[in-house]
Amino acid sequence: MKTCYLIGYPLGHSMSAVMHNAAFQSLGLDYRFKLAEVKERDLESFVESSLRSSETRGASVTIPYKILIMDYLDELDTVAKHCKSVNTIVNEEGFLKGYNTDGIGALRSLSETCGSLKGSKVLVIGAGGASRAVCYHLSLLVRELTIANRTLETAEALAESLTANPMRISRVSAKPLHELKKLISDVDIVINTTPIGMYPDTDSTPLEAKFLKPSLLVFDIVYNPPKTKLLREAETIGARTLSGIDMLVYQGSEAFRLWTGLEAPERVMKIELRRVLGEGF
Ligand code: ATR
Repeated sequence: MKTCYLIGYPLGHSMSAVMHNAAFQSLGLDYRFKLAEVKERDLESFVESSLRSSETRGASVTIPYKILIMDYLDELDTVAKHCKSVNTIVNEEGFLKGYNTDGIGALRSLSETCGSLKGSKVLVIGAGGASRAVCYHLSLLVRELTIANRTLETAEALAESLTANPMRISRVSAKPLHELKKLISDVDIVINTTPIGMYPDTDSTPLEAKFLKPSLLVFDIVYNPPKTKLLREAETIGARTLSGIDMLVYQGSEAFRLWTGLEAPERVMKIELRRVLGEGF
């Protein structure tokens, strides 16, 4: 049997095991997916003892390790290198290669909802590991990309690294979080990449309801709960909303393909998530 892990801390919100175990079972694969709630001081020893083991095929990586984990890997694929962030690891006989499937998942989910993103003006809240991947892919497509973050320097560093990419077509800028009210007035799409609103912190939102407007598409990459406070309030004022569920499935589907070499049974994954997450899916 081969094991794949989810590495993160804390993991109370995670649906990755539910989704991947349903996918492995439906194809009759001798794989299992386990949660690895690892404290930062134990991350290196977990990588060396468990992740490099011959019984381990790979891992998904989530908050707060998408950036830190890169220190312990042997190689990064091109997209992960560009994103400077890893959410998927493949173990090839003890050699650990890092990938990033978050951006592909987010963009596929966004395009299914709003078609072409060409010409769009997008505001991304947060500048952590998930944001790096989403922003990298957006910067190849949209007209304007604004990154708002609590720590302005982190957003500035991300904007600078995106701007340095010769393939980038967006105008990219970095702003402090307290300017959200002003920033929102000039965008078509808002994406939350922070954990604000994620279980168990379900009464929080990264964006006050009074700043929202009906013409927006509001995308929250948080998927637990499926309808975050941000999405509920956006729906109330008549804005279009997109939950993080499809992004979870699509980034997971890419990871599944990297581990098994097979196409992921996305329908099975979605049905299982719907069963577990229930109402509000
Ligand atoms: P991930 O790898 O999943 O993206 P991360 O790298 O820990 O997670 O990034 C979390 C992001 O959410 C960061 O942009 C963080 O802002 P800082 O750079 O200022 O730390 C943001 N974030 C997390 N909690 C937040 C909070 N309570 N208020 C505002 N921003 C928050």
